[in-house]
Amino acid sequence: MKIYYNKKELNIYVEDLKANKKTIGFVPTMGALHLGHASLIEKGLQQNDIVVVSVFVNPTQFDNEEDLVKYPRTLNKDAELLSTISKSKIVIYAPTVEDIYGDDVKSASFNYDGLEHEMEGRFRDGHFDGVGTIVKRLFEIVRPDKSYFGEKDFQQLMIVKKLVEKYHLPVEVVGCKIHRAKDGLAMSSRNTRLKPEYRIAAPFIYKTLNTAKEKFRTNSANKVTKWVESQFAKHDLLELEYFLIADIDTLKTAKRKSNKKTYRAFIAVYADDIRLIDNIALN
Ligand code: PAJ
Repeated sequence: MKIYYNKKELNIYVEDLKANKKTIGFVPTMGALHLGHASLIEKGLQQNDIVVVSVFVNPTQFDNEEDLVKYPRTLNKDAELLSTISKSKIVIYAPTVEDIYGDDVKSASFNYDGLEHEMEGRFRDGHFDGVGTIVKRLFEIVRPDKSYFGEKDFQQLMIVKKLVEKYHLPVEVVGCKIHRAKDGLAMSSRNTRLKPEYRIAAPFIYKTLNTAKEKFRTNSANKVTKWVESQFAKHDLLELEYFLIADIDTLKTAKRKSNKKTYRAFIAVYADDIRLIDNIALN
């Protein structure tokens, strides 16, 4: 498994691929890879000659220093997982902070037509400026034909699509379904940090989303939201940060139901000090 640690070396490889008319799929990650990441990579392999996987814990998108410090870093294990998928068609780009940012570890600021002010944007200050900064930079370095993002981070997927549209970046953004553990918990690098009792409790999140979906058929968004809040108020271990139903185009919270709109329910929950997010399509 080839690992490039800096953009100079990677660039030589990318130039060679371009000269040979090979298509490049790109899956940006922060590592601690799991089957959710693998599902994006497999889709990339179906649609491209080569898949570049970046593994980089991007400091500018963390609003919480402790979360950044504790973020799992497991490059050797990541390379092992990737080599079980393909040794010859996947390469890793695992840059240092310096390779990406030089000595100026700062975000640019972005206007995503308001998408950045909803949901995660309200609770994670500066997060989407950090995401925009790193994704744009990685696109410039990797120069992919297609890039793969999970619906697990649905708002991020919408924001990256907006970034590409606004800056006319020459890449196609492909959204991929949420990959779940057998018990329904959305896979996440943070799950490995859950203490056993919290891991056992966590599937309650997806279970509640499914019931919310059921209820949304005959109830208002407001009524469903109140019901979800009451379920978490009764729960001993899981603490609800937010639940809301939003229109997928604007990500604004739904006030009145319209059958012309497409809705999704979004949730963020604390399991001890670990923040988990999930979402579900409603119609
Ligand atoms: P990370 O959390 O490592 O996720 C990398 C990609 O994998 C994202 O597109 C995310 O949505 C997707 N993903 C994670 N868990 C998934 C699951 N259970 N099912 C499907 N897709 C899943 O998201 C980031 O990193 C960063 O913000 C990044 C885009 C790399 C920028 O730093």
